Amino acid sequence: LLAQIDIHQSIDSTNAELRRQGAAPSGASVCLAESQSAGRGRRGRSWVSPFASSIYLSVGWRFQGGAEVLEGLSLAIGVLVCDALEDLGVQKLSLKWPNDVYLDGRKLAGILVEMSGDFCGPCDVVIGVGINVQLPEVMADKIEQPWSDLRSVADGSFTRSLLAAKLLNRILPALAVYEKAGFVRWRDRWQSLDAFAGRPVIVDNNGQRIAGKAQGVDERGALLLGTSSGVQRIHGGEVSLRLQ
Ligand code: ATP
Ligand code: BTN
Repeated sequence: LLAQIDIHQSIDSTNAELRRQGAAPSGASVCLAESQSAGRGRRGRSWVSPFASSIYLSVGWRFQGGAEVLEGLSLAIGVLVCDALEDLGVQKLSLKWPNDVYLDGRKLAGILVEMSGDFCGPCDVVIGVGINVQLPEVMADKIEQPWSDLRSVADGSFTRSLLAAKLLNRILPALAVYEKAGFVRWRDRWQSLDAFAGRPVIVDNNGQRIAGKAQGVDERGALLLGTSSGVQRIHGGEVSLRLQ
């Protein structure tokens, strides 16, 4: 199941490191760091990654199924992140399509799935998870949207090591399940955590905007958007979602 686990004091990005290494021929590789100098989010955005205050975790894995099946993977990982946090007693979690975890309506964690390889054949996948545990005050200004960390809910009741272990215990066994059956196994649970369910939203595809009502996700993880011309399936990629 687990090919290798590396822990760094500091690194540019745990995702970048696993992409440099390439996937092991079998099993998953894991990279953790105490800080990142170039932590990244989607679309070239940066992920604020100060020392010893968060989880920066990446899992590298050779996926046999073809990249088109990977659309729902960041959603499935979102569910697993919530499961791991709930194991530790954290409540008030929700998910924002396609890749954010919210605590009490503010961004607690982000997921970045990157892949290289064939669209139809096997491809190397890197799954990155960043979770704010206790961000220093000086970082507050660097994040341009409402954010949260675990300080108010965790109260010193668990360590980052325990959280990392819980995450890996959830994520590693799920990879084979995802490879076999895809996202559908996580769909109901994802929808029960959906922060925007039934709410008016705007989907922004590089400046092209569509307004509608968020109606959950389909069996592959595409967003279902109710519009005046019927339900549209919105695929992840470069798309961004916000409330109207
Ligand atoms: P979307 O994915 O829908 O475009 P988003 O605005 O959350 O939404 P992402 O690219 O997913 O965009 O995430 C990057 C953003 O996350 C950054 O632009 C910043 O606003 C925010 N961010 C960066 N670091 C952190 C952090 N440590 N905690 C919470 N939020 C952060
Ligand atoms: C997002 O919300 O856009 C995704 C943020 C993902 C951050 C994590 S931290 C560990 C891994 N390494 C990175 O450079 N990014 C991901």
